[in-house]
Amino acid sequence: MTTKIRPLAAGNWKMNGLSASIGEIKAIAQAAAQIGGADVLICPPATLIAAATAAASGRIAIGGQDCHAKASGAHTGDISAEQLKDAGATFVIVGHSERRADHGESDEVVRAKAEAALRAGLTVIVCVGETHLQREAGQTLAVVGGQLSGSLPHGATAKNMVIAYEPVWAIGTGLTPTPADVAEVHGFIRHELVDLMPGEGAAVRILYGGSVKPSNAAELMAVENVNGALVGGASLTAKDFLGIASVYK
Ligand code: PGA
Repeated sequence: MTTKIRPLAAGNWKMNGLSASIGEIKAIAQAAAQIGGADVLICPPATLIAAATAAASGRIAIGGQDCHAKASGAHTGDISAEQLKDAGATFVIVGHSERRADHGESDEVVRAKAEAALRAGLTVIVCVGETHLQREAGQTLAVVGGQLSGSLPHGATAKNMVIAYEPVWAIGTGLTPTPADVAEVHGFIRHELVDLMPGEGAAVRILYGGSVKPSNAAELMAVENVNGALVGGASLTAKDFLGIASVYK
C-alpha cells in the first residue's frame, strides 16, 4: 500500500478540563506550525468547544467527543452534530469504548451517530477495539471486523472519516500492544476498508489509540498503516501532547 496519507495527531480530553485549561489549547495551537507533517486536533469537553475554537484560531482543529443521531429535539442533555459544528467543531469522535461501555452504544447506534456527523459536515472518527478477554480468546480481528462493518456510516470517504483502533485494555492502563500486534490489526482494518469502501479505503486514516505517550509514540507511529494517534491522558498538557505530535515535525 503506497497511498500517501497525511497523519492526524488527535487528543481526546474526555471529561477533563475547565476554562483554565484553555491555555493548553493555546500552547498547542502556537506550536502547531512546527508539526508540519500532520494535522492536529483536540477534542475537549463540549463545554469548552467554543472557547477552544477561539483559542485555536484556525491553527489546529477542534472536535467533539460524541453526538446525538438527531439534529435537534427533545433529548435532554444530548448534543447534536449540528450544535457541535455551530460551536466551532470540525471533527467528532463516535463509538469510543467508554461510550460503548458506559452508555451501551451498539454498532447500530454508533453508525447513526457517524451518519449524523457527516450530515452536519463534520469529519467523524469512528473508534473500534477489543477487550482483554476478547484478545485472550483470539477474537480480536473478528470483533474489530464486526465493529467496522456495523459502524461505518453510509457516505464515508477518506476525507470525512477516520478510524481509530483502540484496544480497550490499552486505554488509560499504560499497556500497549506490541508493534507487531498493532501492525496486524491495522493491516486487517486497511484490508477491510479497501473492501468496504472501494476507491476510498486505501486512503482512510487509521489512528492508533491507547496509552500513547511521548516515550512510545515514535515506535507506534512508525508501524505500517498507522496514520496518527488518538491520545487520551497525555493530551491534557501541551508538553506531553506536543511530545507525541512532534513525531510528525
Ligand atoms: P489514553 O486514552 O491515551 O489515556 O490511554 C486513549 C483514548 O481513550 O482515546
